[in-house]
Amino acid sequence: MIRTKPFRLGILGSGKGSNMVAIADAIAAGQIPAEIVVVISDVEGAGILERARERNLSAEFIPPGKFRTKLDDDAEQAFVKRLTEAQVDLIVLAGFMRILKGEFLRAFANRVVNIHPSLLPAFPGLEAWKQALDYGVKVTGCTVHFVDQGIDSGPILGQETVPVLADDTAATLHERVQQAERRLYPQVVRALAEGRVTVKGRQTVCRAGAGE
Ligand code: GRF
Repeated sequence: MIRTKPFRLGILGSGKGSNMVAIADAIAAGQIPAEIVVVISDVEGAGILERARERNLSAEFIPPGKFRTKLDDDAEQAFVKRLTEAQVDLIVLAGFMRILKGEFLRAFANRVVNIHPSLLPAFPGLEAWKQALDYGVKVTGCTVHFVDQGIDSGPILGQETVPVLADDTAATLHERVQQAERRLYPQVVRALAEGRVTVKGRQTVCRAGAGE
């Protein structure tokens, strides 16, 4: 099916925003048929908001409420309201450090994706690159997946591997995993924007795009 209007992205992040920048740059270069309609953070001074404003994107802080690891009910409603108003087709989590729960995921069923810095299902949760190094695996990487009710457990859309080198520290490995993220996330968002992804249960299939 050929879309007549651009695919609308809402991006949520809490940190420096390098994945958001990679996606914005790919859009600007004409590689993804999408537009970023809103960038929202739960952290007022987050770099992601600054990077978005430098690109003249709508960038907003929404207070997360009283919990440390999730949005409280009022905050969840505020996020849902803003993203609904913005008529987003896809919500892209780019370093958003809060768990999204029932109401939010019901409002945007199968329309929320996340990037995680390991080859899931290995090493879900925090500091996954460090978990991989400590465990002693020889290969790690990053994963883009749909977000479901679990922690880093939704259907996998794409993965890129990164070798673990003998002299790696957590910092050097993290840097290479993040470089891989900045390649993988735009590719997966492009495939979704172009309607090339089908999902059946846990299995996702991505048809090759033009020039791939
Ligand atoms: C990424 O490394 C991603 O794996 C994790 O959060 C980090 C966000 O980095 N979910 P950035 O804010 O996109 O630079």
